[in-house]
Amino acid sequence: MASPTLTDPLVFFVNGKKVVEYLPDPEWTLLYYLRYKLNLCGTKEGCSEGGCGACTVMVSKRNMLTGNVSNLAVNACLTPVCSVHKSAVVTVEGIGSLREGLHPVQERIAKSHGSQCGFCTPGFVMSMYSLLRSNPEPDSRELETAFQGRRERELMAETRKRFGNVGGSKSICLSLHSKT
Ligand code: FES
Repeated sequence: MASPTLTDPLVFFVNGKKVVEYLPDPEWTLLYYLRYKLNLCGTKEGCSEGGCGACTVMVSKRNMLTGNVSNLAVNACLTPVCSVHKSAVVTVEGIGSLREGLHPVQERIAKSHGSQCGFCTPGFVMSMYSLLRSNPEPDSRELETAFQGRRERELMAETRKRFGNVGGSKSICLSLHSKT
């Protein structure tokens, strides 16, 4: 197989649609690309340093040697967009919506009141979705592992420290992230 050259475009799929980017900036993160190039704002920007999980998306890659496909939950804020070349990315918009019907993971969280302000909920949904794609019947230890690194409460505490507790937690999130 030929190695990619500097003039080859970046090619990947997002929610089943092909994306071709000529001359991508190597400093763009996947999060930046999803939110500001593709306008998929369901993937949230929280800490931007891999700590909160608000930016979680699923990246699927085929292992060229075994042919197996791996479905991994990744922090889009830490993932260079160039690293998803020839991969498939699924965001929260790609698994379900109110208009087209919620995915069971989204539905269960909504019906169980499983979120606080809701800002980080898409990340929770995508962590669970990615886990279930590779392991449909996880045990409690595997569940715990899948949700490691999610620090919404710490994020909220830090946010409150920086912006004060005005207008409820939703307003705090919105004041941190003008484009939600
Ligand atoms: S925004 Fe990516 S982990 Fe917090």
